[in-house]
Order: sequence, then C-alpha cells, then structure tokens
Amino acid sequence: MLSIVVLISGTGSNLKALLEACDNPLYPAKVLAVGADRAAEGLEHAELFDKTTFVVQPGGFASKDEWAEVLASNIEIHQPDLIVLAGFMRVLPKSFVDRYYPRIINLHPSLLPKFPGAHAVRDALAAGAGETGSTIHIVDAGVDTGPVISQQSMAIPAGISEHELHERIKEIEKQQLVKTIEAIASDELKLEEVSS
Ligand code: GAR
Repeated sequence: MLSIVVLISGTGSNLKALLEACDNPLYPAKVLAVGADRAAEGLEHAELFDKTTFVVQPGGFASKDEWAEVLASNIEIHQPDLIVLAGFMRVLPKSFVDRYYPRIINLHPSLLPKFPGAHAVRDALAAGAGETGSTIHIVDAGVDTGPVISQQSMAIPAGISEHELHERIKEIEKQQLVKTIEAIASDELKLEEVSS
C-alpha cells in the first residue's frame, strides 16, 4: 500500500478525488495526512475523511529553507512513500526537493513545458493556444521543470472563460491523478526509472 502526504493551497478538488479513490479498499494507496501553506479551503475534504491536517505558512520564517524545514518535519512524522502536490502554489527550495526526489509529484494545468508557473490556464488563453491539458511530473528544483510522467491534452473551445477552462482541465486532472498514483503504487510506473 503506497502511503501519501498531499500538499494543497486551494479548493482541493483533486485531493477530494484522491481521497474518494482511496476509500475503495481495492485501491492500492492511502492518504496519511494533508498539509497546506495557508488555511486552504480544501483542508475541509481531509477533515471529512478523518485525515490529519497541518498548515505551515511561510510568513513567520526568516527564509524559505527554514519554512521548508518545518514543512518537512510535519511530513516526516507520517513517513510517506510519496508526496503529492495537488494545487500547492509554492516553489519548494532545493533543500526540500533533494531530500525527497524523485518521490514528489506535481499536478500542473498545462502541457508542460508550455505554460509553467502560477497562471498556466490564463497564459494558454492569452497565447491563443488551440490545445492545452494537464501534466503530472516529478518535482525538481525548477519551476514545473521536472521529468514528465503523464500528460493529457484537450482542445480549447473558442470563447471559453479562464474559470470554465480550468474547471474542464480539473475534470481531466482528477482521473489522471488517481490513475497515475495507482500506477506508481502497483510499480507499473517506477519514479526512479523516469527520473534517471
Ligand atoms: C489544479 O488545476 C492544479 O493543476 C493547479 O492548481 C489546481 C488546484 O485545483 N496547480 C498549479 O497550477 C501548480 N502550478 P484544486 O485545488 O481544486 O485541486
């Protein structure tokens, strides 16, 4: 059974999809705890599923490394096999990434390397892209630059709003996240091989 700590910053719809999948006794992964960098709305999903939650806000720390050290100690208590960034909107420092690489994965709402960063959906629309999608990748010390492990594309309908397009991408992401974690848990997808 693959054990996971999920980190979020926002509404947590992907977290919810994963928690629901893990509720099936046949699913080969379990969420041990959910952390956030702010009082994220999505922590409610974790509480509904009786998961431990923790919040480590960067504001109170002298440096990003110090913040990440406390974040890591909250994760270490649970000794997870995998850390999943599901809408976690902070770049983790190299000290943190080196500690866990390649066992941190991130969900991103574009076809990387196109449109990295915090506004991927807006940037795809502004660029007039005809298609976009979602990517799951191993987290390295760059911004959305780590090895890609899964991508799914979709056409961008003419005139669609940023909000509506993001919602449609999230529908793809939820299934992709659940399937990818299942593949990692069953060793069908070996992160060590993808990252080497
Ligand atoms: C998701 O679309 C995820 O790909 C994105 O945040 C959203 C979180 O939604 N992540 C990034 O943009 C990371 N750069 P959710 O909180 O409803 O799961």
